[in-house]
This record gives sequence, structure tokens and C-alpha cells, in this order.
Amino acid sequence: MYKTHTCGELRLTDDGKIVKLAGWVHRRRDHGGVTFIDLRDRFGLVQIVLNPEISPEAHQLAESIRMEWVIQVEGVVRKRPEGAENPNLSTGEIEVEVHKLNVLNPAKIPPFLINKDEEADENTRLKYRYLDLRREKMRNNIELRHRVVKFIRDYLDQRGFLEIETPILFKTTPEGARDYLVPSRVHPGEFYALPQSPQQLKQLLMVAGVERYFQIARCFRDEDQRGDRQPEFTQLDLEMSFVEREDVMNLIEDLFIQLVKEVVPQKRILKIPFPRLKYQEAMDRFGKDNPDLRFGMELVNISDLAQQSGFSVFDQAILNGGSVRGINAKGLGDYTRKQIDELTEFVKQFGAKGLAYIAYTSAGEIRSTFAKFLSPQLQQAIFDRMQAEKGDLLLFVADKVEIVYETLGRLRVFLAEKLNLLDPNVLAFCWVIDFPYVVWNEEEKRWDPSHHLFTSPMPEDIPLLDIDPGKARGQQYDLVLNNYEIGGGSIRIHDRQLQEKVFKLIGLDPDVARERFGHMLEAFEYGTPPHGGIAPGIDRICMILAGEPNIREVIAFPKNQAARDVMADAPSPVEEKQLEELHIRVVYPTDSQKS
Ligand code: AMO
Ligand code: AMP
Repeated sequence: MYKTHTCGELRLTDDGKIVKLAGWVHRRRDHGGVTFIDLRDRFGLVQIVLNPEISPEAHQLAESIRMEWVIQVEGVVRKRPEGAENPNLSTGEIEVEVHKLNVLNPAKIPPFLINKDEEADENTRLKYRYLDLRREKMRNNIELRHRVVKFIRDYLDQRGFLEIETPILFKTTPEGARDYLVPSRVHPGEFYALPQSPQQLKQLLMVAGVERYFQIARCFRDEDQRGDRQPEFTQLDLEMSFVEREDVMNLIEDLFIQLVKEVVPQKRILKIPFPRLKYQEAMDRFGKDNPDLRFGMELVNISDLAQQSGFSVFDQAILNGGSVRGINAKGLGDYTRKQIDELTEFVKQFGAKGLAYIAYTSAGEIRSTFAKFLSPQLQQAIFDRMQAEKGDLLLFVADKVEIVYETLGRLRVFLAEKLNLLDPNVLAFCWVIDFPYVVWNEEEKRWDPSHHLFTSPMPEDIPLLDIDPGKARGQQYDLVLNNYEIGGGSIRIHDRQLQEKVFKLIGLDPDVARERFGHMLEAFEYGTPPHGGIAPGIDRICMILAGEPNIREVIAFPKNQAARDVMADAPSPVEEKQLEELHIRVVYPTDSQKS
């Protein structure tokens, strides 16, 4: 037996026990001829003492030991001498006096310190991920993720859900990204597609009569990488039969309330029940459909007031059908020109042509880009609407409404970060509902589903699909947490005619539709129950609960920003013979084609 106890479990009550421990050398110190080692395993740290007077052999062997060596010891648990206790360590009242030491495996010097969470270069961390995962922060993140998933499994099991695995080698399941394809050796020229989600399969499980399904499901999407995206990621994928929107939302809301209580009790949910925002309201108030509700600074529409100003920037925007909206950056009224220029540069990145402002300094002065056009009445009207006080900075963007939303929505979060308004211990969940059913794709001149192909329109809006599709709303819901969309779902279409109508609306050729989704259409003719579901993203949830800035920190072996596994070096070229077997020939892009 290598160990009788873990390194984290010994307490004062174990005083006098003979124990065996094994783990990694976390830190070593030599003090007055005695060697102290912090021995680490996954469960914690314990101080072991090598005293030449008690065990000269072990003490001598310890001379050679370095950080991250794997060792085993036998010894006696002792109360630490008065004053030598470490209150920061759960085993801090005791130490283990070593009688016998075994080196199980030496280690090279690691490329970064394991015993400190200090920043190491991320590519190095990813290359040596197995070392990075030894560090306390990563170990905690991985454990948190385990707790989250375990909680979800237990919660759903208690409510009659079955966890069912669905295939990875499947057929295109579009969720708005490109597919990852897998060539077939036995069927030349044919490919599997890795599912972007198990969407079709879970619906087919409803046809199969499962009624309550879930899966901790891996999804694959070839899309631009961001901090909250990975080429493969994990969803809590869930589907239920005989439900309405409210049923799914209520279940998921309760799941998250209980999950927070159980797994991260130190965090506080801002509002229960979770606020529900209509899509349009979310856009008008926050400029985005994944708003952060932890702070105010909401968008204010001043188009009607701006119209009377005579300021050409505002006039032009309104004349072109746009609008003028602003936010009140409370307390920034004394910002310098340079600081405001920095904000202007920020919004320009996202398409704004500029940033107009009124600074109401703490001394009561007014500085403004459009001072000339700011009559006392107009100023008062704007101040009233934006609840401006001395010391505030009012920032405006005039443009097409999409750009106004995009830029002010981002500026609002940018300022909140600067002003330290984002308390990581507060969880501001909300639901966003009543999305438009389809959105116009100007490039391709067609309607795109705003969620996915299988979402049902609101029953009362079905007639609109024929007359004014842009006005129809979908039966979908997004779950939002602190500035991130953490889940999306909907009530589905369960009727072949309606599904075909939607395929047609989004310009899917009927033959293509049948070739790609014929199995779905056919299934709908065999007694399909009304059904709906949702898929919260496990990575994003864990990222937020762990207080991390990106999802790579909560994934054991993530890809880097360039979608590459830098540890194993994947993707990588394969042998010519393998390509031949797969009937594949590679045509390398020319330099100009490389993106
Ligand atoms: P959707 O496409 O909205 O819905 O995805 C649901 C949730 O999955 C997470 N997510 C991601 N996480 C990490 N990396 C990515 N690349 C990534 N893409 C999405 C997000 C998102 O909210 N089949 C539908 C669900 C349904 O209708 O039931 C779906 O996949 O947290
Ligand atoms: P210009 O007329 O482009 O020199 O801009 C005059 C001022 O208005 C500058 O401070 C710009 O930052 C600001 N501005 C320009 N275009 C916009 C716009 N579309 N919305 C808000 N402010 C703008």
C-alpha cells in the first residue's frame, strides 16, 4: 500500500498515528539541519519533517530531492510545536515525522512553478497541460466542473430524466457554424459530420417516447475562436415532451438556483425569479441580447430630442433612419479629453463613426462635442431623461440602430470593467424571450433562422410567416448570466407541414431539405409529441462560477485561440497512405488563399 491517508486529511486527532503518505514535493526548506517538505497530492498538502537525529538515512536521501519529485514516506503524526502552526493549511496543526523515505520517481525542473499560481505564458501552460493541471487553481477549476456536472446528473435523475448517448459520427446538424467532417474509408467520397449539437437526435428521442432526456454532450463547431468558444465544447443537452416554454424555463431556473446553493454557496444570485426580458427590451436597455444585469448604465434613446439640435451628426443619422442613444457614465464627468478619446477609439473599433458627449464636471461646468447646439432647454431635457447629475459623463452614438446597440452595449461593459462594477460573486441570471423568428441575411438575400431550423414560431405568429416574416417571434429562450449567453433552447416544430414551410421560408431547396433532414420529416409523421428543450453550455457556466476570463481555464485539455492542441500538436499532417485509404488528395492553399 502506497498511502494510508491523503495529504489533505490528517488533523490533530491523528496525533501519534503511524501513517504512509505519497505525493509530489511541493516545496522544501532546510532549517537548522532539519529538512521540511510540503508533500502534495490532489487532496491537499502536509508538512513532513526529516530530522537527521531520528532518521539519518531518510534525511540524507532528502538532500537530493527536488520540486515535483514523487516520493513516499512512512512516519508518525505529531502536533506541531507551539507557534509553528499554519492556520492557512487544513493540516496546519500537525506534521509528519518521517522514519522512512522512498523516491518513487524524480522529475525534471518544470517549465513553470507548480507551487505558485503566478502567470505563466499560456502556450507553455497548454504545452505542458499535465503540469499546469497540478496547480491549485486548475485543480480547483476541474473539481468545480466535476461538482457542477455531478449536481446536474443527480438533479435530473431525481426528476425522471434519462441520460442517453448519441452518436458523434453523424450527419450535419447545423447551429450556425461550419461542420467538422470525417471522411469515410469504406464509402469513398462520403463524409460524416460531427454534430454541432445533438439537436436532431434529441428530438428523435422524443419521437421515440423517451419524454425526458439529457446528456452531457460534446458538440463540435468550426467557427471563429473567442474566449468563450472552443471548437469542441460541452452542453447539458436536454429535451422534454409535452411541455410549453414555461415548463422548460422553470425547470432550468430551479436547477441553477439549487446548483448555486449546493456548489458555490459563497455566490449570490442577484434576482429570483430570474428576470425575463423580451429581446427588444434587452436591446433597447442594454444594446445586446446577453446583457449584464449586475450594474445600471442603461441605454437611453434621445432621438426625438437630438432631432431638434441642429447638430449635423445627429441629423444625418436620424435622416438615414438611424437613432441617437446614450449612456450616463456616472462619476466620469471630469474625464479629460484624452480619456474620452480613448472611449471614442473603443467604439470606433465596432463601427461607430464617433462618440459625442456632454461632460457635466463636478465643478458644474459643461463640456460637449455639440455645445454650440445645446440650448438650455435641450440640455435640461437630455439631463432629465438621462438622470444626469454633476460629475456625470453622457456619451452618445448616432448611427444605424444596429451600430448604436453594438457600440453602446460594448461601451457599457467596457466602462463597468473600468469602474469595477462587475462583482464576480454576484450571479445575475436572466431569460431573454420573444426573439424574432428569422433575421434577414443581406449577403445571401434570404431569411436565416435566429435560433435553429427546428424552433417553432409562436403559434399566433405563424400567419406572419407568409406576409411579414421579420415580425414573427420564435418560441425560443436564452439563459443569460453576467454578460454571457449560457444556454439557448426552444419549443420545437413537431409537424411535417410546418417544418417544410420553415425550410422553404429560409430558402432551403426541398430536395436538399429531404436529403439532409428527410429522417426528421419522416419521423414527424409517426406520432410526434409536442416537445422542447434547451442546452446550457457547461464550459461557460463553469468559467463564470470559477471567476475565470475564458473557458480554456475550465477545460482539462483545450485548444488554443488558433484551434490547435499545442500539447499533442493537433491538427497535424498524416501519412500519404492514410490519405490514399480515405480517397483524399490535399490541395494546399496558395499564400493569398490562406486566412
Ligand atoms: P446554441 O447553439 O444556442 O443552442 O448553444 C447552446 C449553448 O452552448 C454554448 N456554446 C458554446 N460554448 C463553447 N464554445 C462554443 N463554440 C459554443 N457554442 C455554443 C453556449 C450556448 O448558449 N441545439 C441548441 C439547443 C436547443 O435548442 O436545445 C443549441 O445548441 O453556452
Ligand atoms: P466630426 O463632425 O466627424 O468631426 O465629429 C464631431 C464630433 O462628433 C466628434 O467628437 C465625433 O467623435 C462625434 N461624432 C461623429 N460622428 C458621430 C456619431 N455617428 N455618433 C456620435 N458622435 C459622433
